[in-house]
Amino acid sequence: MTTESLNELKKQVLACQQCPLYATRNQPVFGSGNPEAPILIVGEAPGFEEDKTGVAFVGKSGQLLEKILKACNFSREKEVYMSNIVKCRPPHNRTPAPTEQSACLPYLEQQIEIIRPKIIILLGSTALKAFFGASSRITRERGQWKNWFGYEVMPTYHPSALLRNPGLKRDAWEDFKKVVLKYRELVDKNHYCQYV
Ligand code: URA
Ligand code: SF4
Repeated sequence: MTTESLNELKKQVLACQQCPLYATRNQPVFGSGNPEAPILIVGEAPGFEEDKTGVAFVGKSGQLLEKILKACNFSREKEVYMSNIVKCRPPHNRTPAPTEQSACLPYLEQQIEIIRPKIIILLGSTALKAFFGASSRITRERGQWKNWFGYEVMPTYHPSALLRNPGLKRDAWEDFKKVVLKYRELVDKNHYCQYV
């Protein structure tokens, strides 16, 4: 059921021309992972590799994210679904404009309604602001559970920020450890993780 609904929505996204990003994209990146995943990870926008392959988080940021998930004993096929605030790559990886974000957000909202994840992880400032408003600050709000229409939401740094500034990795790891604890509370009390 969720797979069918997601596929239906994906068809719409693949044909979408609702904002100017459609003109410069190679292809939209809908999102991928387990349609019944307990954890939804939300990034900003596809980058070069994602635009080329059509798969979310396959470039350098994605590889770092995958390493962090492995340390939590989560896999991107099983416990996780990954998507972005906008589905098409902005030229030169610029931040998607507010109008582009509001054009695309209904797709993410529908993905959330279909997947109904137990935990949502927001990666970076753009995702945080899209959910909680322009006055949100990732440096201030990361690492604290927030509530979004009943969903448990953990904001943390975007992996691209961790690549630019490795000093932030320690804080990001603290945030992911909180996700492991919440996962045990809400999903599987026996979830094994050698670090938590
Ligand atoms: N960065 C993002 O925010 N999303 C991706 O899919 C890849 C890189
Ligand atoms: Fe459509 Fe979103 Fe792509 Fe804009 S970014 S064209 S709204 S899918």
